[in-house]
Amino acid sequence: MPDPEALGRLRLAAMERFLFDYPAGQRDGRYVPDSLPRLGFADATFDLALCSHCLFLYSGRLTLDFHLASIRELCRVAAETRIFPLIDLAGRPSQHITPVCAKLRDEGYAVSIQKVDYEFVKGGNEMMVVRGEGHRFIPSPGTPGEARFIPSPGTPGEGKGGGADL
Ligand SMILES: C[S@@+](CC[C@H](N)C(=O)[O-])C[C@H]1O[C@@H](n2cnc3c(N)ncnc32)[C@H](O)[C@@H]1O
Repeated sequence: MPDPEALGRLRLAAMERFLFDYPAGQRDGRYVPDSLPRLGFADATFDLALCSHCLFLYSGRLTLDFHLASIRELCRVAAETRIFPLIDLAGRPSQHITPVCAKLRDEGYAVSIQKVDYEFVKGGNEMMVVRGEGHRFIPSPGTPGEARFIPSPGTPGEGKGGGADL
C-alpha cells in the first residue's frame, strides 16, 4: 500500500461496496452467519472459500487443532480454500504454518503458499492455498499434478479450539 490515505480509500470503498450489496445479498441468502470450525453448508457447495485476517493472524488465541479443523471444514465445503495473511498479530510468520502444512499434506491435501500483491498488515503478503480431498479438482495454471486427491469419507470439522471474538 503506497500510503495510509490509499489504504483508507481502499477500506472505505470496500465498506461501501459491502453496504450497497448487503440488503439484496441478505434477501437473496448470500450473507449467512456461521462459525468455524463447523459450517452448516453441504459438502462441495462452493468453488472457493476465502478466509481473511482470521486464521493464522490470531495464532496466539486459536489453537493448532482449531486451525486444522477449520481448514478441513473449509475444504469440505469448497473446492479450494485461500487463507490470508500468514502472519500473527506481532507480524511474525504464524507458528501454525509449518505444522498445518505438514499435517494437511500428510492427509492428502494439496497445500501451497503463494505471494500476493496485496499487503494490508506489514509483511502479510502471502496466502495459503489448500485443495481438499474428495472434491472436484480445479487445476491451477502452472501447478499441474500438484494435488494428490484421495477420496475419503473424512471427519470434517473435527478438533477443538473454539471461536473467538476477533
Ligand atoms: C479482523 S476481522 C477480519 C474481517 C475481514 N475478514 C477482513 O479481512 O477485513 C476477523 C473476523 O473473524 C471472524 N471470526 C472470529 N471467530 C470466527 C470463527 N470461529 N469462525 C468464523 N469467523 C470468525 C470475526 O467475526 C471477524 O469478522
